[in-house]
Amino acid sequence: MELWLKKISENYTDTCEFKRLYHGRGENEYKFLTIDSIDEILFVQFYERSDLEKNITDTLKNFIQNTGHHTIIIKKRYNNETFAVLGEIPEEYFAIENGIKFKLNFFNQNIGYFGDMKNSRRFIETIAKDKKILNLFAYTCGFSLFARRGGAEYVANVDMSKSVLATGMANHQINGLDIKNISFWPYNILKAFPKLKRQAPYDIIIIDPPTHQKGSFIASKDYIKIIKKLPGLSHKNTILLACINSPKFSKEELIEMIESNTSFKFQNRIKNPEEYTNSTLKSLVFSIQ
Ligand SMILES: C[S@@+](CC[C@H](N)C(=O)[O-])C[C@H]1O[C@@H](n2cnc3c(N)ncnc32)[C@H](O)[C@@H]1O
Repeated sequence: MELWLKKISENYTDTCEFKRLYHGRGENEYKFLTIDSIDEILFVQFYERSDLEKNITDTLKNFIQNTGHHTIIIKKRYNNETFAVLGEIPEEYFAIENGIKFKLNFFNQNIGYFGDMKNSRRFIETIAKDKKILNLFAYTCGFSLFARRGGAEYVANVDMSKSVLATGMANHQINGLDIKNISFWPYNILKAFPKLKRQAPYDIIIIDPPTHQKGSFIASKDYIKIIKKLPGLSHKNTILLACINSPKFSKEELIEMIESNTSFKFQNRIKNPEEYTNSTLKSLVFSIQ
């Protein structure tokens, strides 16, 4: 059996929860490919054009004869094409993580859910009780959902995209999570530091930015700008979760940037989910004491 097929067979379990079956970007074989199990849908993404696309698709049609999937959706990220090769793309669909639902849109470049943050969201849930939280680069508000389920008193979700925040608000409602005391701030974080102070100091601050989003955020030059504002947003017991997903931005570099510009000290790294083989995600916890 080919290695990639062995891998997806090993990773597959019959569950409605989201599961990455193949993370090609960390593998030696098929770096252009990821495959996710999203309840009854097999979601296949091609990051680069490949002669193997047809062969892979045909093999997957066979694979699902023995699984609970009834639909295969293909996304060719290199030319922004999304279509079903089996079944249909549903109008409404959810990724489920530890019982929390995320509303998906398969036609968007990013569909509304990043599975590699699963362990970090679980961590936030466990420390959220009665806490005031600042969630920077909130996207569809995944951290906020788990924080609220964990009993957070207040969450400010900040993202420059109004549409992802609208999905974030819907995600709270879909999960029966009260949005009283949850803010959805559509700000460019780099230009909105005074507004972020409105509810400061925060007990927990989450920073999960893109690595390189042209015109919006370039981690190599912009991350430090946020770090320098942390003293005005925190108190002596604040917990900081600082993340970056890039092979070029090392764990040591992020720790050095934070420790040399603030009183925060590195505590521990949250493990990435095992299915994300060799993921470059760094999810680091800091505290002052
Ligand atoms: C990697 S995603 C964040 C993932 C999210 N934390 C989660 O848990 O799923 C990056 C987000 O940063 C937002 N973004 C990029 N530059 C920004 C900026 N300067 N200000 C506010 N949001 C920004 C994008 O709109 C996008 O939603």
